[in-house]
Amino acid sequence: MGVADRKTSPFEGQQPGTSGLRKKVTVFQQPNYLENFVQAIFDSAPELKGALLVVGGDGRFHNEQAVATILRMAAANNVAKVMVGRKGLLSTPAVSCLIRKYQAAGGIVLSASHNPGGPDGDFGIKFNIANGGPAPTSVTEAIFQRTKTISRYRIVDEDAPDISTPGSYRLGNLDIEVVDPVADYAELMERIFDFTAIRALFAGGFRMVFDGMHAITGPYAREILENRLGAPAGTVINGEPLPDFGQGHPDPNLVYAAELVALMRGENPPDLGAASDGDGDRNMILGPGAFVTPSDSLAVLAANATLVPGYRQGIKGIARSMPTSGAADRVAEHLGIPCYETPTGWKFFGNLLDAGKVTMCGEESFGTGSDHVREKDGVWAVLFWLNILAARRQPVAGLLADHWTQYGRNYYSRHDYEGLDTIAASRLMLRLKGELPGLPGKSFGRRKVTLADDFSYLDPIDHSTTTGQGIRVRFDDGSRIVFRLSGTGTEGATLRVYIERYEADPDKLGQDTQEALADLIALADNIAGIRSITGRETPTVIT
Ligand code: G1P
Ligand code: ZN
Repeated sequence: MGVADRKTSPFEGQQPGTSGLRKKVTVFQQPNYLENFVQAIFDSAPELKGALLVVGGDGRFHNEQAVATILRMAAANNVAKVMVGRKGLLSTPAVSCLIRKYQAAGGIVLSASHNPGGPDGDFGIKFNIANGGPAPTSVTEAIFQRTKTISRYRIVDEDAPDISTPGSYRLGNLDIEVVDPVADYAELMERIFDFTAIRALFAGGFRMVFDGMHAITGPYAREILENRLGAPAGTVINGEPLPDFGQGHPDPNLVYAAELVALMRGENPPDLGAASDGDGDRNMILGPGAFVTPSDSLAVLAANATLVPGYRQGIKGIARSMPTSGAADRVAEHLGIPCYETPTGWKFFGNLLDAGKVTMCGEESFGTGSDHVREKDGVWAVLFWLNILAARRQPVAGLLADHWTQYGRNYYSRHDYEGLDTIAASRLMLRLKGELPGLPGKSFGRRKVTLADDFSYLDPIDHSTTTGQGIRVRFDDGSRIVFRLSGTGTEGATLRVYIERYEADPDKLGQDTQEALADLIALADNIAGIRSITGRETPTVIT
């Protein structure tokens, strides 16, 4: 077998963002573009030599070619064995599960998560470390630095084997094990959740719809919900992974999961509606007449964790990203456990989970997870809800109402302005940063600013500091507005505005969210000059 040392030269901008390197498919299709980045991973992670590497992706357009290239490069870079999902398919949480279960030295995930796919869509690549989680900034930065000086990459001449059937294969000195993408993950779920109780729930006529959005979770949901838990066939909709996600936008929110939302708002809705994203790490939970914000979801799961066998001993702590609402903080306080506030992005939870400081984590961006893997996990969150509903025998809306009665309600919404002119967006943020020193003490109507800063995080475990993580403006009534620019987009800039207000008055817990937040929404524009600087009258997506 021949190993070629191919000449190459650096590409601009191979800098991983919030979650790996994401670019248009056409960018990844340039000769050597993927190869350079993959070689930079091998050069920056010497622990992969002689070790096991897990590889898989969400099945989007370009997944198969990318997997074949990675297999040939792994063989040339002296990786001992690659475990890869059949046809190159693995959800992000399943990659994390396999890395941990088989003690791999790392994993490569091919996905652009919730971004659209297809020839004109997005593609992405992300490196996970031995704990199963996204590589920390120190590693992604080393990879980025390496991409700037790269001059060669190593690849074997031979073609990669056909990986459409599970089994053992060889490519040069590399062992390749093609695995069923679902089996190990489903087995982990069976160990965590009370499948008997959930089976009884379905047997009693409980109805749910799971929208796979033509992305990776269809096969996982079919196997777990329909085959193992006895939900009727047809419970999973859009369950066939397609390279372009059926031309959809595989992001489980109220705008993009339109089919599911219509079902839940239609006549005779099912008892539970759920959806996951492109690579299976996000989740959305709906009930008849109820939308569970991801921030509330984290709080509800934490408050009810002991109903689930895997968490019967209780949870050690909770972590949430800074823009996520404070709903979980109230549960943590009630349970007498710590609650950590981290920057946006799952990678910041890894240290806390590894150190045993927290059991559950969540982000407002439809991400919930726990120490069972080191990624957020969409199907896990849905099973968690099912387990709670099976134990409490209550409708989703009733459960939420009870939760708010006990803890109060954090009215919360995120307004996204997508595809903004990059210069206008940075001007807005720069202007806002300039205003920060003058904001504390300033009054806006009946509210006074108590804190205004650019969030920075000191990791309590490795003591690293991460700065510039979003502008926070907090008011004396506990309400809060956060502004940050997205780090995952591939076109222009996306401004995210997070608005939150706490309400404890039992008579005021059932308001419409946008109405409950109306004056803060107006205030956000007043403070940041969104309309005047971006020229946009309304957000692209409101969740
Ligand atoms: C977005 C979400 C963030 C999440 C990330 C990856 O990042 O806001 O919470 O971790 O996607 O799924 P952003 O585009 O805001 O940088
Ligand atoms: Zn995702």
